[in-house]
Amino acid sequence: MPDPATTLAPKLLSQAAAAGELARLAAEIAAHDLRYYQDEAPTVSDADYDALKLRNAAIEALFAHLRRDDSPSLRVGAARAASFSPVRHGVPMLSLDNAFSDDDAAEFDARVRRFLRLDDTPVAYVAEPKIDGLSASLRYENGLLVQGATRGDGRVGEDVTVNLKTVGEIPHRLAGSGWPNLIEVRGEIYLGHAEFAALNAAALAGEGRTYANPRNAASGSLRQIDATITAARPLRFFAYAWGLLEAPFAKTQSEALAALRAWGFQVTPLSSRVAGVEGLRSAYATMEAARPTLPFDIDGVVYKVDRLDWQDRLGFVSRSPRWAVARKFPAEKARTVVEAIDIQVGRTGAITPVARLRPVTVGGVVVVNATLHNADEIARKDIRVGDTVVVQRAGDVIPQVVEVVPGARPTDSVAFLFPEVCPCDLATPLARETTTAGIETVVRRCTGEFACPFQRIEHLKHFVSRRAFDIEGLGEKQLTAFFDEGLIAEPADIFKLARDERTLESLRVRDGYGETSVRNLKASIEARRRIGLDRFIYGLGIRHVGETTAITLARGYGDVDTFLAAMDKVGKRDPAAIEELDAFDQVGGAVVEAAAAYFAEDHNRRILQALKDELTVMDAERPKTDTPVAGKTVVFTGALEHMTRDEAKARAERLGAKVSSSVSAKTDIVVAGPGAGSKLKVAAELGLTVMTEDEWSALVGP
Ligand code: IVH
Repeated sequence: MPDPATTLAPKLLSQAAAAGELARLAAEIAAHDLRYYQDEAPTVSDADYDALKLRNAAIEALFAHLRRDDSPSLRVGAARAASFSPVRHGVPMLSLDNAFSDDDAAEFDARVRRFLRLDDTPVAYVAEPKIDGLSASLRYENGLLVQGATRGDGRVGEDVTVNLKTVGEIPHRLAGSGWPNLIEVRGEIYLGHAEFAALNAAALAGEGRTYANPRNAASGSLRQIDATITAARPLRFFAYAWGLLEAPFAKTQSEALAALRAWGFQVTPLSSRVAGVEGLRSAYATMEAARPTLPFDIDGVVYKVDRLDWQDRLGFVSRSPRWAVARKFPAEKARTVVEAIDIQVGRTGAITPVARLRPVTVGGVVVVNATLHNADEIARKDIRVGDTVVVQRAGDVIPQVVEVVPGARPTDSVAFLFPEVCPCDLATPLARETTTAGIETVVRRCTGEFACPFQRIEHLKHFVSRRAFDIEGLGEKQLTAFFDEGLIAEPADIFKLARDERTLESLRVRDGYGETSVRNLKASIEARRRIGLDRFIYGLGIRHVGETTAITLARGYGDVDTFLAAMDKVGKRDPAAIEELDAFDQVGGAVVEAAAAYFAEDHNRRILQALKDELTVMDAERPKTDTPVAGKTVVFTGALEHMTRDEAKARAERLGAKVSSSVSAKTDIVVAGPGAGSKLKVAAELGLTVMTEDEWSALVGP
């Protein structure tokens, strides 16, 4: 029979029983560690092992003074897993668009009504505090928590199930009834002010590291490979949304919040249902007034359309929903001194002046740099080295210099002279950029392109970044070091490095490196040898080709050879290839120009070929093919009665159709409403399928 102490809940243990239990756990876990690490022959499953460590941490949390010197919780290095495994979210985790003023809030309301074609009745919204933590997705099957993940890049997150299970406010089993058999519950992991202060105080007393703010602390605490560390941090969770769902469980956001509460989640006490623009305004004012008294950080208010059927109709644009917006609190400000002004060169050669500041705390974070945007901005604000300035910081954006404090300027101060040449060795003259229409802009650019070492390194940083090739372990520091030493000059070199045993061997014996980091680096590079076409395209760092455009292009061209063949022609300004590129949704003149310039360069084509030789580029995810309109080209003309044009277009595209604005022989379906004119005539002449809005709705479903 097991000792009864080993099955008792920690809070029911007597002092003596707790001490005995901690001794038993220390011995048992040490024995498992030995079998796992030295003999490589574990005798328990990872889950059972984790359960032992969690129990140890839970008892220590209650009986801190009983913690043993040989406690497993002190052996931080003894991680069981190298990193977290990826988890594909059932439904992507998106982000929110920002609003900063009453006017922005009114514009949000106006957009909602325009899209839904509503009359003047005020729209019902839910206003929720925007919790400043990190979002997590919890998958429940038949009411049981089976998986928990971080947001990651929105599509794929990290599996932190074990860690999330240590958060007291996350139910392992849903309470009550009425929950769908499958649901991804989403919300925010955060740390309260008091807990944050206690954590940093303990760190200063010698246990672990300090964090700059509660959000970083929450994120650092959750993403611990050793979940017992997470267990010892008092993380909390607010539920406010959901992803994948087997069956609907509410008709409105407010009902949904009530359901989440009934199932055992914490939902923010400050959420309220409000009506119209006036409601949005007053909810914001209430939240702003409550902010200083709250025991946790909030950085704004999230407005959500209450009716879920309207949320569905409103849908999404790019990465954010049309049915919600985040109204941010104004930036926090502080005064400090500009100690120097440096010049930075970006990936595309754009020059950004940066103020080096005497360190100052703004909204809980120590700020040492602030962007000065461009030469005109420095001149307009007359910012000089030695000036006392007001700096501000809002959310994650780079701190900015708002203004110079008058009267605090040193007597010997001189106006800042903007350099005429790039700070790189080549000292290339800086050109003021002009638009395609020939208008001068504020941007100064180094025209050195790949000859300019600053731009080359920025290209490489972009290439390895999270949304591009996402090569872990090749951070800015290592990349810069490898670049300076000539080990990596272009993207293909990264993959060559992973195969080059001699160079890897030389890294192994380096200071600060070693066997493990070299092995990890090699593994993380090798893991990216197979890459999706969209990431491949995004990673090239072509100007104006962001992630969304990269996905569009990947889907449009389908596979890497088709893409490169088409781009080759675009580089040679082949009219048909340019027309094809220009016709993609969201691709405009700027993208076409940038792609043409990029692929006209022999140098770029060579770099690309070398890269491609190292990789297996996977074909793009095909658009939907199993709907009645998949692959069809549709034109909407005339007035639509039950949906707006944007809504109709968004829905058709979701179903795999291509929406065009002009009727041609390539058109498959013309949806014509009252008032349709010439397009309808052309359609009749071409003998195309013409249908009414109702017939279209019957075809594609509600
Ligand atoms: S709703 C589809 N509600 O803000 C949008 N988000 O920029 C689902 N956040 O990643 C998000 N409090 O981490 C929502 N009450 C709230 C929130 C909230 C904080 C965070 C969340 C999200 C980010 C959006």
